[in-house]
Amino acid sequence: ATTLPYPRNGIAKVAELKVNEPKGFNYPDEDSFCQVLKTGRQVPGGVGPDGDIVAFSTQCTHMGCPLSYDKNARTFKCGCHFSIFDPEMAGQMVDGQATENLPRILLEHDAADGTLYAVAVEGLIYGRQCNLL
Ligand code: FES
Repeated sequence: ATTLPYPRNGIAKVAELKVNEPKGFNYPDEDSFCQVLKTGRQVPGGVGPDGDIVAFSTQCTHMGCPLSYDKNARTFKCGCHFSIFDPEMAGQMVDGQATENLPRILLEHDAADGTLYAVAVEGLIYGRQCNLL
């Protein structure tokens, strides 16, 4: 297997995240839109002191439209053709036209100062042949 040279970027502090309120960031480059979310409950792939912080590429895997977060349903939704993705189930596609789950942004938590680092992408970002351009 090839290990791609992903950047290790500080994207947020644990203390600044509010439960159920995603924060946007760009990774692995400025053209790739992502969101980090503190779910408030321990979830698959969750990091941080409560194991509840996850991050995803939030360009729809169907045709690349930007996803928006629905606080009531606790899902990412696409306004273009209504795909729905579950951040508490590792970005699983739960409904709609998309056939791929959301690419996960792998995170590391520095417990010393509470910084969350994006360190890799698992899954292919929409429209790319390779995550690193
Ligand atoms: Fe999102 Fe089609 S672009 S469902």
